[in-house]
Amino acid sequence: MISRDTITKIMDTVRIEEVIGDFVTLKKRGVNMLGNCPFHNEKTPSFTVSPAKGIYKCFGCGVAGDSVRFMMELEHKSYPEALRYLADKYKIEIEETEAPTEKQVEEKNERDSLFIVAAFAQRFYSEQLLETEEGQSVGLTYFKERGFTKETIERFQLGYSPEKGDAFVKAATAEGYQLDYMQKAGLASDKYDRPYDFFRGRVMFTIHNFLGKVVGFGGRTLLSDKKVPKYVNTPETDIYNKSKILYGLYQAKNAIRKEDECILVEGYTDVISLSQAGVENVVASSGTSLTVEQVRLIKRLTPNITITYDGDTAGIKAAIRGIDLILEEDMNVRVVLLPAEDDPDSYVKREGADGFLKYRNEHIQDFILFKAGYLQDESKKDPVKRAEAIKDIVDSIALIPDAIKRSVYVKECAQLMDIQEQILVSEVNKIRHNKYSKQAGAPPRAEDRQVNEEVPELAQQQEALTRLSPLARQERDVMRLLLEYANYDYQDEWKVVHAILMELDADETPMSDPVSEKIINIYRNAIQETSLIPETHELSGNQDEEVSRFVIEVLQTPYELSPNWGKMHDIAITDKQFMYKKDIQSSLYRLKLERLKVLIDENRVAMKKAQDEGDEQALMEQIQIFQHYLDLKKMLAAALGSVILP
Ligand code: UTP
Ligand code: MN
Repeated sequence: MISRDTITKIMDTVRIEEVIGDFVTLKKRGVNMLGNCPFHNEKTPSFTVSPAKGIYKCFGCGVAGDSVRFMMELEHKSYPEALRYLADKYKIEIEETEAPTEKQVEEKNERDSLFIVAAFAQRFYSEQLLETEEGQSVGLTYFKERGFTKETIERFQLGYSPEKGDAFVKAATAEGYQLDYMQKAGLASDKYDRPYDFFRGRVMFTIHNFLGKVVGFGGRTLLSDKKVPKYVNTPETDIYNKSKILYGLYQAKNAIRKEDECILVEGYTDVISLSQAGVENVVASSGTSLTVEQVRLIKRLTPNITITYDGDTAGIKAAIRGIDLILEEDMNVRVVLLPAEDDPDSYVKREGADGFLKYRNEHIQDFILFKAGYLQDESKKDPVKRAEAIKDIVDSIALIPDAIKRSVYVKECAQLMDIQEQILVSEVNKIRHNKYSKQAGAPPRAEDRQVNEEVPELAQQQEALTRLSPLARQERDVMRLLLEYANYDYQDEWKVVHAILMELDADETPMSDPVSEKIINIYRNAIQETSLIPETHELSGNQDEEVSRFVIEVLQTPYELSPNWGKMHDIAITDKQFMYKKDIQSSLYRLKLERLKVLIDENRVAMKKAQDEGDEQALMEQIQIFQHYLDLKKMLAAALGSVILP
C-alpha cells in the first residue's frame, strides 16, 4: 500500500492543469482553463479546470474531481494505480506501508526491469554511434550523409548496433543485466545455441512511449542487399505494443498541441527530417497501418490529422486504408500527396520547411473528397467499378459520428461523383441504420449515444425537413447556427449570438415558427438582463418542453438541408474555426432572401388586386414597392455571393 505521506506528497506536487493537459488541450480563461470535455463529445468547450483549487468540472456532462479522480475516470485506473501514475509523472518515490503481494512485486519488477534494460540499450547504441570507431565510420557517417545534425541525433536518440554478434549482450551482462530480461525486451535473441544480439550492424532509431520512456528500437541496415530486410523492429514485448505506439509522438506532442494538427507520415526518417527542418508536429505509424489506439493517442492532443504520404499509387492506397478508423473517431482527416518520386524526408531536404509547407498548403485535401475524386477518376468508364466506388465512399461517410459533417460530405460527394444527393443520403442512412440496430444489445459508447437515438427517426426527420417551406427551413438553419455557436467569438467583443440577434432585429420580422421565436427571446432576455449567454444545454434542458424538444431536434437533425455548405468546396470543410462565421453570414443572407421572397409574393398579390379593381394609385405604389424589393434582392444576392465565393 502507498503510505499516507506519499499520498500527501503527491497531492502537494501535482498540478492539475499539467495532469489534464497531457490529455486535453486547455486554453486559459481568466483564472481557469477551458477545454473540450474528454468524457463526452462536445464541440463548445465546457470542461473547466481550476489550477488554484486543483479540480475540474464539466458544465456539459457534470463530471468533476481532482487529479486522481481524473486519471481514474479517464484511464479506468484504480485509486492506487492513479496515484502511481502521478508519482511516476512527477518522479516522486513511493513509500509502501504494507508489503504488496508477491505477484504484484514480480510483475511490477519485471516491467520495470524491461524499461531499465531498454534504457541501457539506448545508451549503449548511442555510445557505439558516437564513441567507437565502427560506429563513427559506419553509422555516424551515414546519418551525416542523410543530413541529420548532432542535435537531431541527440533529440531522437539515434544510435548504432555493432556488427559483432554479441556486443550488446556482453556489455549488458558485464553491467549486471540478466539475459532473461534482455530477451523479454526483444534485445537478445535465443534462436542460436548461445545468446545473440537482436540488432546487428544497423543504425538504430529509438522508440519512446508517450511519457518518453524507451520501449523499443527500429534498426536500419546499411546494405543495399535486397535479401536483407531494410528495417528490423523490436518484436512485441510487455513494454512495446506496436499498436499503441507512434514513432516520434513524445518529441512531437507539444508541437501537435500548439499547431492543433498532427502530421502523419510513414517512416522514421520522414519524422526526423521534418522535425529537424522545423515541422515538429509529426509522427509515424512505422510501416503498419494505423490502429484505433494510435488514433486515440493523437485525439488527446488534436482532432486534426494530416496524412502525408508518397504520391505513388502505393502511397495513395496506403492513405485510403486505415483511415476509416480515424473517421469513426470523429477526427478531421486531410491528405497531402507528395510528388510520386518523393517521400516527406526527400521533399523537405530538397525544398526546405518553407517549400514543404507551401506544397502542403497548395495540395492539402479533405480526405473524403480526395477519396471520392480518386475513386471517380478510377471508375469513370466502368459502371461496375463505379457502383463499387459509390458504395466505398458511402461506407466511409457512414462512419462519421457527426451528423452535420456527414450531411456536408454527402452534398460534396454527390457533386464530385455526379450522383443524386438523395441517393447518397438514403444509402448512408441504410448503413447507419443496419450498423446501429445490430449493435443495439451492446451499451453505446458515450459518443455514439446521440447517433443511436437519432437513427430510427432519421428517415422521418429527413422527410419532415423536406416538407418545410424554404423560409421555415432557412429559419431552422439560422437556429441551428445560433444554438451551436452562440458563445463563439464573432468580431471584437461580439459573440455569434449578438451578431445573429442584431440581424434578426433589423428585419423586424418574427420567425414564422413560434418556438424559434421563443428561443430567440430567451437569448434576447438573458443578454439584456444578465448579459450572460445561455449555454446550449440550458436550452436543451429547458423546462418548456417545446423549447427543449426543438433544440435537441435541431442539434441532431441529420442531413440538415442547409444550402450554405454546398457551394463552398474551395474551403476546407473541416476548418470549423474559420467556417462558422462565413456559414452564419451566408445563412442570414439566405434567410433575408427567403423573407424577401415572401414579401414579393404578397406584393404580387396586391398588384393583381389593384389591377383587377382598377385602382391606379394603389398599383403605382405596389410597383414602386416591387422595384425596391428587386433592388434589395440584387444587393442580397451580391452580398451572398461575396460570402460564399471569397
Ligand atoms: P520506407 O521504406 O519508406 O523507409 O519505409 P524510410 O523510412 O523512408 O527509410 P529510408 O529513408 O529509406 O532510410 C517506411 C517505414 O516502414 C517501416 C519503417 O518504420 C520505415 O520507416 N519498415 C519499412 C519496416 O518496418 N520494415 C521494412 O523492411 C521496411
Ligand atoms: Mn525515405
